[in-house]
Amino acid sequence: MTNNGQTRIIDIFDTTLRDGEQAPGCSMNLWEKVKVARRLERLGVSVIEAGFPASSPGDLEAVKAVAGTIKGCAVAALCRSLEKDIDAAREALSKAAAPRVHVFLATSPIHLAYKLKMTADQVVERAASAVKYAKKFCADVEFSAEDASRSDPDFVCRVFAAAAGAGATVVNIPDTTGYAMPAEFAGLVRYIREHTPDRGGAKIAVHCHNDLGLAAANSLAAVEAGADQVECTINGIGERAGNASLEEIVMALRVRKDLLAADTRVDASQIYAASRLVSQVTGVNVQPNKAVVGENAFAHEAGIHQHGVLANRATYEIMTPESVGIPKNRMVLGKHSGRHAFECRLGELGLRLEGDALEQVFAQFKELADKKKTVSDRDIEALVMDAACGAAEVYKLDRWVVNCGSSLSSTSTIRLRYKDQDYYEQAAVGHGPVDAAFKAVNQIIRKEPALEHYELKAVTGGEDAQGETWVKIAWEGRRWNGRGLSTDVIESSIKAYIAAINNMEASLI
Ligand code: KIV
Ligand code: ZN
Repeated sequence: MTNNGQTRIIDIFDTTLRDGEQAPGCSMNLWEKVKVARRLERLGVSVIEAGFPASSPGDLEAVKAVAGTIKGCAVAALCRSLEKDIDAAREALSKAAAPRVHVFLATSPIHLAYKLKMTADQVVERAASAVKYAKKFCADVEFSAEDASRSDPDFVCRVFAAAAGAGATVVNIPDTTGYAMPAEFAGLVRYIREHTPDRGGAKIAVHCHNDLGLAAANSLAAVEAGADQVECTINGIGERAGNASLEEIVMALRVRKDLLAADTRVDASQIYAASRLVSQVTGVNVQPNKAVVGENAFAHEAGIHQHGVLANRATYEIMTPESVGIPKNRMVLGKHSGRHAFECRLGELGLRLEGDALEQVFAQFKELADKKKTVSDRDIEALVMDAACGAAEVYKLDRWVVNCGSSLSSTSTIRLRYKDQDYYEQAAVGHGPVDAAFKAVNQIIRKEPALEHYELKAVTGGEDAQGETWVKIAWEGRRWNGRGLSTDVIESSIKAYIAAINNMEASLI
């Protein structure tokens, strides 16, 4: 679909920090959210949905921090159609250069009957009054009809007409449950466009979930049917099976511009760095066969394919790895690599470090290169993540010793430094070395958070690989993640646990 034969520009609304963060195991701390938001700004998205301020004080603070940092695109905050939620969004977005309030209300019969317990007339009235309330302080207001794909299309049109009449600048059609089929969803978008002519210029957005693996297909079908904005997340993270994946939408539009006559403002060369960052901060790996950013997305294994690619890459590649920012040169660094080579590699990986942070990571790189034969891209990414660990370090690991073996209990002695001043040391007995170490830490901090998740993985292959540990702890109904890195797996476990405790301490102040 073209406008006078020209390419339409589709707005990319990124909800990695909101819908993405709602996915199990994908929570991020404030510092990580700001870091991801900066990366999204560099990527060139049109809108960053930074969170749901009324959902928790932590979310409100995170949206505030993102809104105060990001100046290159709009920052949105999600709200139910309630005045108290909109008030929280107002506070969270007060420093945003281009704020957007995103209010939602369900329109499907099942949501009206069982969740909202509201009549259709009440929903129309509430949608309009919520948009009107948000408009008092924010010019840009998006209204979403939650579960639109399972709603009566005429009712969605009625609600959208009311929301647009109250001043909504964007009306969003979510496939909340990932139920729609591409042709059906395109039909719905077309129907709504044609039957809500008095939208007062409000753009049409779509927001697709991936329960049947169709989120990207449905979003692209919606673009063909005239949608102006697509909502998506990096690596497709999100509720249940996830949201439409940003990299798939952006690259499908770019590679098939000939067919779809639509494109985005996204700088595709930043896609890989954004994907790696989100994977690093959430600890959620990208599946190897994931389109565009997976480890195997550009790997050619079969001999016949390799032969074709060597003769001409276009035989089996519809886009190049470089076009999405995957570094061409797979040079590995080692102990003889100098500062220049290290900084070059950082640049090629899309990682920016300056001043003290650069010094610190370079020193750690040299230390690691002394222990390992080669330092890979994954090692460098892990060091960069580790250097800027987010929350202030209330506790730092100073020394540790663990004794373990078969059939006897494990013992540990841990010494932590508290606020860069005093040292505290405790010994404990546990079921295995990690348990013994965590118990000694608990004695020092005088709390016993529940360990909800523990995951240990090697950053690379090889016997000298660094171990990366992820933990999730819970305390009084709240949860915090921590990550630790070391060539010793016990040390990386203790560091991860202390990182989670530091995140907890920072948010309890
Ligand atoms: O999936 C959904 O319907 C949502 C809305 C809040 C937009 O996330
Ligand atoms: Zn959603």
